[in-house]
Amino acid sequence: LENHAIAVDEHGVIIDRIAFPPKREDSVLSPSRDEVVGWVERNWGTEDGWEWVRVGEGREGRGWWFPGFVDTHIHASQYPNVGIFGKSTLLDWLNTYTFPLESSLSSLTIARRVYSSCVARTLSHGTTTASYFATKHVASTNLLADICMQKGQRAFIGRVCMDNDLNPDYLRDESPEQAVEDTKATIAHIDSVDPNHALITPIITPRFVPSCSSPLLSGLGALAKESYLPIQTHLSENTSEIALVRRQFPTHNSYSHVYDTHGLLTPKTVLAHCVHLSPEERILLKERRSKISHCPVSNTSISSGLCPVRVLLDDGIDVGLGTDVSGGYSASILVAAREAAMVSRTLAALIAEEEPQSEEKDQQGVDPDKELLAKHSTSAKDRKKLSVEECLYLATKGGAKCLGFEQRVGGFEVGMEWDAQLVELDDAAEDGADEDGEEEEEEEEGRADAGAAGPVELWGRETWGEMVAKWLFCGDDRNTKKVFVRGRLVHERR
Ligand code: GUN
Ligand code: FE
Repeated sequence: LENHAIAVDEHGVIIDRIAFPPKREDSVLSPSRDEVVGWVERNWGTEDGWEWVRVGEGREGRGWWFPGFVDTHIHASQYPNVGIFGKSTLLDWLNTYTFPLESSLSSLTIARRVYSSCVARTLSHGTTTASYFATKHVASTNLLADICMQKGQRAFIGRVCMDNDLNPDYLRDESPEQAVEDTKATIAHIDSVDPNHALITPIITPRFVPSCSSPLLSGLGALAKESYLPIQTHLSENTSEIALVRRQFPTHNSYSHVYDTHGLLTPKTVLAHCVHLSPEERILLKERRSKISHCPVSNTSISSGLCPVRVLLDDGIDVGLGTDVSGGYSASILVAAREAAMVSRTLAALIAEEEPQSEEKDQQGVDPDKELLAKHSTSAKDRKKLSVEECLYLATKGGAKCLGFEQRVGGFEVGMEWDAQLVELDDAAEDGADEDGEEEEEEEEGRADAGAAGPVELWGRETWGEMVAKWLFCGDDRNTKKVFVRGRLVHERR
């Protein structure tokens, strides 16, 4: 949408959206042009109390409003470990780095520092909704909910359940009953601080099958059924993990089947990773309408594998993006979206190597994909690639759909809530290198300014689409100038 105005009421709900300039009185919109980037027209207290926000045009036309990012899978408790993973893979990574750190969050003092930093940082990256794993500790998990409330981030808060022998003694639930009781304690806490779940929702969180006994999985499945609450967990992340599940549940057909027989595959279930699903498992997930959180930064960092997102989308499964901090080294969904694009290109490159005959097959008309290829008038290789638009869809609407919020966030439709970020790119520095008589000193100054401004250089010739592509591939939190959740300003970069 270019040159549109959006009206947001005092509850943070979008109540109107019209082409700019709107037909309404000029006074409602009279802009104080020197005030802000992005034209936030504050008009609280006008006749109808609406706030107008101009979309599609920032200061000097380099900025735009974008729906807030949705992080469908992030371990707030692991935030201090971002960037620390060495050459580990999932199971040794858990034992070496993750379990010891999570154990330290039994301290409320440590939890407060970790959770405050994590929420502030994700907000600065434009994450307006996050689905968090905390730890097994009830008090610090409840504190995470309080911090999200206070800072104004929309969040799902999961008390992590883990009761079997795979977990270290120092980080294990006493019993399945205790784990379910502790989960209920966090649900009760959230119900008391946000009774309508306007901002914070509890989410039932078995860590993953290898961490959980069958009675615990059943207990949590039953709790989900009686409470109608969402569920989050991990699925099919790493091949050793899958082998472990096979030994743990030898009579089950698959890892997904274990969740299914315990009542944990629902339309409100978010399954992180899903890198190595069999076709049968994909059919099962599709049937159950369960969602997938794609965590490409994590999958590459701890070398879990390359998730075939195009296949999942073609199956009609809902997919969102997760940072999976700290399996993933970045708390930014923009980085996750970028890595989703890169992983899809790596998969495309692998097809070319595996199927050098595909073009020939095409010509002979024996390729079963031929019709599909013709329909999309592109090669199989290109079809694997996720476009800029698709990656940003996964980062917003896709994630919102995974969390059951597609009517509320992820876009700027009337009736949705104003969860938005103001993105602005910086002009290329005018360092005068090719101008006559320019002093060297001034050139250096120009460069220093460019460095301070932000990571993206605009040359003034870019289309809107190209500017968005530059943001996806080159941008960072310096480009995120303001962040709103439910109409409340929750982050501002000055
Ligand atoms: N599987 C079980 N626990 C975890 C975790 O903390 N992170 C990731 N990425 N996978 C897991
Ligand atoms: Fe994870």
